Amino acid sequence: MNQTLIAVEHVTKTFPLPEGKGDFTALSDVSLSVRSTEVLALLGRSGSGKSTLLRIMAGLIPPTTGSVTNGGKPLAGPNADVAMVFQGFALLPWLTVIENVELGLVAAGLERHERAKRALKAIDMVGLDGFESAYPKELSGGMKQRVGLARALAVEPKVLFMDEPFSALDVLTAENLRGEIDDLWNSGAFPSSSILLVTHNIEEAVLLADRVVVLGSNPGHIRGEIQTALERPHNRNDGRFKRLVEHLYTVMTNPELEVAADSAGGGAPKKRSPYSRALPHVRVGGISGFLELLLDMGNGPQDIARVADRLALTEGDLFSLIDAVRLLGFADVAGGAVTLTPLGRDFASATILQSKEIFAKQALDRMPMIAAIVRALHEKANKSMRAEFFLDILDEYFPLEEAKRQFATAVDWGRYAELFEFDAVEDRVYLPDAPAIKSA
Ligand SMILES: Nc1ncnc2c1ncn2[C@@H]1O[C@H](COP(=O)(O)OP(=O)(O)OP(=O)(O)O)[C@@H](O)[C@H]1O
Ligand SMILES: [Mg+2]
Repeated sequence: MNQTLIAVEHVTKTFPLPEGKGDFTALSDVSLSVRSTEVLALLGRSGSGKSTLLRIMAGLIPPTTGSVTNGGKPLAGPNADVAMVFQGFALLPWLTVIENVELGLVAAGLERHERAKRALKAIDMVGLDGFESAYPKELSGGMKQRVGLARALAVEPKVLFMDEPFSALDVLTAENLRGEIDDLWNSGAFPSSSILLVTHNIEEAVLLADRVVVLGSNPGHIRGEIQTALERPHNRNDGRFKRLVEHLYTVMTNPELEVAADSAGGGAPKKRSPYSRALPHVRVGGISGFLELLLDMGNGPQDIARVADRLALTEGDLFSLIDAVRLLGFADVAGGAVTLTPLGRDFASATILQSKEIFAKQALDRMPMIAAIVRALHEKANKSMRAEFFLDILDEYFPLEEAKRQFATAVDWGRYAELFEFDAVEDRVYLPDAPAIKSA
């Protein structure tokens, strides 16, 4: 039991940026396996590559590098052991419930009688009996998603993939369906041996999953995993359940924290090195310009696609900028829109001196790498250190070229904020109040 079903190893996925502007990395060096008899949840923020990873494991798209295997064999083309439930239901409006459910079975080449038998069984399982000949438009959202689920279950896939299956449903409907799926799994009547569930919802992950894998962003990567190790059905009132949910909240809102199962048992999660948390590659001038533009566009949320359009950029071009302003606390990002925070408005409308002060405070508070550089310089009597010192540390966490870019970005930010200076001739970083560097 518990053998590996689907495995990705060192998988990277890049997408070409428009107009030949290089590649966008959606997933970087991801290794993960789906084992038999487990419910595995992938938890991560929007853009962390969850759907991309699912599509790769389902064989719908190939990885750029790395390997994908199913049952130990390299996967080439759609994974026959997988059926997928989509967030948007993906029903065909001109087909009835049973016809929609039979779709996957037609593809599997089953004959008519067997198709009907399996479809009816699945419809029954999701509580839709009596609605076989209804059309999708006659159904509520919750019932539509039941059809989506029945369609996947009818195939009796070894692994059921669910990509945010409840996020288009209202809270109560989602909770009902979630509970029913959990009951079905716990009863042992579930037709699949494993479930891979993608979600944004921390409680949902802990409620349903045996193992929660947390993805980080920029680029998408695996931060760590947690074994829920709870008795089934998972009880929300259980102390460990609550601690796990709390721990995952902490981890999800602090990208520099370690996702360790043992820290969920109690105590604070362990800190990762401040140098491992990447800075988004944007210059301060770019950040200011972007914030000024947002300020010009007025109050309230601005649609990211519209901002991109006005700047003649793609949403991908804006990615690092948006990430930078969000990380610095200058804007909030939700539902495809970006909103200036009061601090972001101040920064964009202040004098250059005030802007520098605001930027310095935010960079120190929220950018661990900047704070660590300043701290290290303070430790030195002459308030100065060789650039190599920082490059060596960064080299532990990033490929060499990226380590150099990280350092260049840190220097750009540090200089603007007047937190530290960089002397390219001496190749040294120093505090603004450091004694003058003597040439050797
Ligand atoms: N076909 C594609 N071409 C270009 N970029 C893509 C493509 N598919 C995904 N991406 C990019 O890759 C990143 C990861 O996307 P993905 O949809 O996997 O994220 P996700 O974690 O599922 O996000 P969400 O929670 O919003 O569904 C995003 O920045 C997205 O814009
Ligand atoms: Mg997605």
